[in-house]
Amino acid sequence: MSSAGARTVVLITGANGGLGFEIAKGLFLRPHSYHILVGCRGDLRRAIDAISKLRQISPTSSSTAEPLYIDLSSDESIGAAFRHVQEKIGHVDILVNNAGADLDTAVASGHLSRREGWNRTYDTNVTGTHLFTETFAPLLLASRAKSPRLLFLTSGLSSATEHASGTSHKYALAPAGWPKPKTLWFPYRVSKSGMNMLAAEWARLLHNDGIKVFDLSPGFLNTGLGDNRATGEPRDKGVLGAIDPAIGAGFCVEVIEGVRDEQAWPIRVMRKDAVQPW
Ligand SMILES: NC(=O)c1ccc[n+]([C@@H]2O[C@H](COP(=O)([O-])OP(=O)(O)OC[C@H]3O[C@@H](n4cnc5c(N)ncnc54)[C@H](OP(=O)(O)O)[C@@H]3O)[C@@H](O)[C@H]2O)c1
Repeated sequence: MSSAGARTVVLITGANGGLGFEIAKGLFLRPHSYHILVGCRGDLRRAIDAISKLRQISPTSSSTAEPLYIDLSSDESIGAAFRHVQEKIGHVDILVNNAGADLDTAVASGHLSRREGWNRTYDTNVTGTHLFTETFAPLLLASRAKSPRLLFLTSGLSSATEHASGTSHKYALAPAGWPKPKTLWFPYRVSKSGMNMLAAEWARLLHNDGIKVFDLSPGFLNTGLGDNRATGEPRDKGVLGAIDPAIGAGFCVEVIEGVRDEQAWPIRVMRKDAVQPW
């Protein structure tokens, strides 16, 4: 049996660390009672450890959590996660599409081929995120909450408008000639632009069902994103100016708690303090 009971059920993909964990932490610290499904791929002990940390940080919280194995690259895993939640709980109130991949460093270091890097980035950030959302949409529709919410986590690098005008982060004109220098943030940037369309499409699909859909750009955060986990090679976020992920998580928690509901429709890409151009 699940301990969900009357609690608001929040499913966060990739919540064993980084921003996803910080969102779970932020929810545990709130007075409202949540039941958090801590999405994790690979070794599920990482989700179990994350839940122990949540309990240590907020021992008096009325919220609860359980681990949920989800690998966005595996239809089998998405299907098994769906059946588990359907049988155990029967609905989801808030779905947070947090899991994401930035493999650009792994490609630049030669650990992944360029094709593998592009395909795996897209598989997680676009294809897997869409198939996961499609699979779980009936559970959001089964929510009895006043406003079920669906969140997508996009990137400050994903704005086609800013990129085309040369005002995007990490924008630099390439020198004339060939070959061009290796450009980081390229597959990641493109995949997150694709995700923006995905979010817009889900907003359109679910608008008349009363489900609020958000596309959030949480800022440049000091997490494991972009590090080459296979070689242990970190991206130097200190030098690049990444901020505490708890700041981005605070923004996501506001959205989960309905503080930003009036900004849900028509959908826009939301930064904490501004609208990010498409
Ligand atoms: N960090 C930033 O500056 C920043 C800025 C804007 C947006 N975002 C977005 O915020 C979200 C969270 O990123 P983060 O910064 O917290 O990165 P992170 O620390 O690397 O966490 C990403 C999470 O996604 C999981 N994941 C990766 N591929 C997956 C897959 N195929 N299936 C299931 N889970 C998978 C990872 O699992 P493993 O632990 O197994 O790798 C990890 O739990 C991402 O969507 C990212 O694009 C981040």
